Amino acid sequence: MCRMIAPHSPSPSPVPASARPVRKAVVPAAGLGTRFLPATKATPKEMLPVVDKPAIQYVVEEAAKAGLDDILMVTGRHKRAIEDHFDHAFELEQALAAKGDTVRLDAVRDPARLADIHHIRQGDPLGLGHAVLCARHHVGDQPFAVLLGDDLIDARETLLSRMLDVRDRYQGSVVALMEVDPSQVHLYGCAAVEATGEDGVVRVTGLVEKPAQEHAPSNYAVIGRYVLDPRVFDVLERTAPGRGGEIQLTDALQELAAGGTVHGVVFDGLRYDTGDKGDYLRTVVRLACERPDLGPEFTAWLREFVAALPEEEGAGREESRAA
Ligand code: UTP
Repeated sequence: MCRMIAPHSPSPSPVPASARPVRKAVVPAAGLGTRFLPATKATPKEMLPVVDKPAIQYVVEEAAKAGLDDILMVTGRHKRAIEDHFDHAFELEQALAAKGDTVRLDAVRDPARLADIHHIRQGDPLGLGHAVLCARHHVGDQPFAVLLGDDLIDARETLLSRMLDVRDRYQGSVVALMEVDPSQVHLYGCAAVEATGEDGVVRVTGLVEKPAQEHAPSNYAVIGRYVLDPRVFDVLERTAPGRGGEIQLTDALQELAAGGTVHGVVFDGLRYDTGDKGDYLRTVVRLACERPDLGPEFTAWLREFVAALPEEEGAGREESRAA
């Protein structure tokens, strides 16, 4: 069952009004985060810091940048931290204001100013499809975006805007696809595709959740960005639990794809899966190196650190070396 939580008073959005029909984004963040235990025992994985902001803030910033100014977070147990992060923190703000620390004051206020943020609880983590279904009442009969709360697309990329543009032109639903090594396909939803004649846009003819390599229809993996037609809700209502006993969004999209109404935008840019320990480490190191305030000192230290790694020990530390 999904329970609505009253939103805090809407903050003025810096996002200019747009003519686009897609104005709402749903951010599912109610998963158990088992890959990141024990850190995620009492903290949602979406709140793990990536340098100095929680992962989910990058996701909300991406939605706001694409003009989506109404965001519904689907949260679960222990997700109070997400709700608090996107709300005002009066005591903290007062203390920083009294000190005249305007830089930190802005950093504390920014999350609540990004968009009009709402929350709903997914009582039990019955799967991503169920989390999306929880958004039905809030979304209504309009197309909407879904951004997974632990899946980061680099801020320099324009993936979501491209997907919204493809929805405008083709209607139906749009998924983001990334070519992965065939050995990795079992970790993702996987798409069968055919060409549209447009560079970087494909028609999705079938979808299968986490297939074995030998059964995968391609090496196009579905990554955590979707623009969905509201028809998906009717399909999700009758979607039975699938792989892992969860109600899978992929299974509902498979039905829509069979009807010829799903397109894919092929993405070959920078993406960070912060729900995976190795990718999380690489993301933090990469983004820290690129930060003007931290990068120069941190990069200098990193160079020394890597140079001092003993060869045999370094060979066993793939994650640190790849970062
Ligand atoms: P994941 O499969 O990555 O999330 O779901 P998980 O189950 O939390 O992760 P692991 O595998 O156990 O570590 C993708 C997204 O869907 C959300 C998650 O929070 C994540 O953002 N999700 C998943 C829900 O909101 N509800 C669910 O029931 C399942």
